Amino acid sequence: MCGIVGYVGRQSALDVALDGLHRLEYRGYDSAGVAILDTAGALVIERRAGKLVNLDRALAELGPIPGTTGMGHTRWATHGGPTDQNAHPHTDCLGMIAVVHNGIIENFTALRDELERQGHMFRSDTDTEVAAHLLEQMLRGRLAENGADLAAAFTEAFRRTCRCLDGSFTLLAVHRDLPDLMLGARRNSPLVVGLGEGENFLASDVAAFIAHTRDAVEIGQDEVVELRADRVTVTDLDGSVTAPRHYHVDWDAAAAQKGGHPYFMLKEILEQPLAVADTLRGRLTADGAISLDEERLSPQDFRYVDKVFIVACGTAYHAGLIAKYAIEHWTRMPCEVDIASEFRYRDPVLDRATLVVAISQSGETLDTLMAVKHAQEQKARVLAICNTNGSTIPRESDAVLYTRAGPEVGVAATKTFLTQCVATYLVALHLARVRGTLFGDEIGRVVEDLGGMPAQIEKVLDTVEPVRALARELADSKSVLFLGRHVGYPTALEGALKLKELAYMHAEGFPAGELKHGPIALVEDGTPVVVCVPSPLGRNTLHGKVISNIQEVRARGARTIVIAEEGDDAVLPFAEHVIRVPRVPSLLFPLVATVPLQVFACELALARGLDVDQPRNLAKSVTVE
Ligand code: G6P
Repeated sequence: MCGIVGYVGRQSALDVALDGLHRLEYRGYDSAGVAILDTAGALVIERRAGKLVNLDRALAELGPIPGTTGMGHTRWATHGGPTDQNAHPHTDCLGMIAVVHNGIIENFTALRDELERQGHMFRSDTDTEVAAHLLEQMLRGRLAENGADLAAAFTEAFRRTCRCLDGSFTLLAVHRDLPDLMLGARRNSPLVVGLGEGENFLASDVAAFIAHTRDAVEIGQDEVVELRADRVTVTDLDGSVTAPRHYHVDWDAAAAQKGGHPYFMLKEILEQPLAVADTLRGRLTADGAISLDEERLSPQDFRYVDKVFIVACGTAYHAGLIAKYAIEHWTRMPCEVDIASEFRYRDPVLDRATLVVAISQSGETLDTLMAVKHAQEQKARVLAICNTNGSTIPRESDAVLYTRAGPEVGVAATKTFLTQCVATYLVALHLARVRGTLFGDEIGRVVEDLGGMPAQIEKVLDTVEPVRALARELADSKSVLFLGRHVGYPTALEGALKLKELAYMHAEGFPAGELKHGPIALVEDGTPVVVCVPSPLGRNTLHGKVISNIQEVRARGARTIVIAEEGDDAVLPFAEHVIRVPRVPSLLFPLVATVPLQVFACELALARGLDVDQPRNLAKSVTVE
């Protein structure tokens, strides 16, 4: 998830672009860059790896770049490490065209091969660079066909380029000899226009231009914007003019970095359908295989795996607990889950046939990194599931699958948790395929079920309002218990962890069946107990057992809050509050059931007047043991 800003107007384009980038930095900070069409007729590009401050420094040394057309980009790396070379903007062979991009161009390998055959020279590892060369190629063809109107030819070439791209993109482009024109387009990735007086803006998010104008235009899917200082034209990919929606932004610059939300956590909770969709995008190859991002292991290595260990910390550990159910069910291999900081001290039995799956949002958690190193010393293979391209854990691992959740600013993990679950399902399917425990069509069916999950999560988000009211009502509780069985148990643990982290409240998650062996002593009159109820249609008898557990706590005075699937009326007589989630396959239940628990913890913490983005004593990435 990158941040993009474009400007054509009367002010210094560099100042506008940099200011916009600062407001968009929450979207990614692997590198940043600008392209300015200067008054001397040059296309000036400056870009730096690392946070925006590195670019600020480089630009300060360079001195002013006079020019009123320009664009900027702040990167969250997907293809290619976070280096200067991979930083946007990217250019064509001649340095006449510059592009910035947000998203993933899925067919970039095929496009790149073809363009290289035609003689184009690539200078980065990014998927984005193909857009610059493709645009160059299309422009050449267009000028050869239709002669000299460069602006018309460039715009048509840009439309043709977009038509050739698969995947998601927000794409901006400028040409050195067209200093008054900027082109933009979007597919499954955000782009908005800001309308000023004698100046106009393009950005991933209105945050980038909110200091200049609150009048915005929404750009539809597969639409192209021609941006000039005095006018904005929007067309579809065939060149027909469209009528995009204008709107007025009713919040101020201060809230802008949070994309209009009062705090990052809420924004990130709402981003979950997209994060899950992005993590799944393009994973199933034509021959039914699951594609990882980096694979330094052969299918043979995977075939010989006879045991899996998962190592992780915090929320990632809960994703690991959920993964165990999927891995054992689909691969028929034993799987153990370890808290990373405990792993190497208990001397686990590891060898060449062991696969260690390390789950880490940041890719920098030292406990998890040390567990990875220990596994490698014992000759085990390591597969990383990570959200941060270029971080240490994936670098040290033999294979990597990236969760494409985008930057998560709220310290308590939300969208990265759901994407970690999705990534572990994919790893389980990958193992099942190479070991032959699932057939291709069975894998295809699970991938299809997973593909439906963003819509199901969206449904949960649409109906979550009563959970907020409930959280406010329970804000003064002393303690909250969470119960579940099967994958509902780690879901309960995650619900309890969110409440501890955000609301500083005593909260515990238990396997519902374990309740009677001790934890039931904690139940007092009025204690809220949240129960994750499995589907009544599940193949086992879990549903009935959990209903009995609800009755047990209710008989002891608990306030029962039940998360149950739509249509499960058996819970009604025993539930003080029912939170409905859509019916999904049993193993995928955590993807819908965790969402109300996140909202519950977040709202309860807010009701207690706490900072949900930066809870006390915690850090987003913990690099000490
Ligand atoms: C910290 C964070 C947790 C996170 C854990 C693991 O403790 O506060 O929210 O789950 O680290 O982080 P990782 O980056 O390895 O997923």
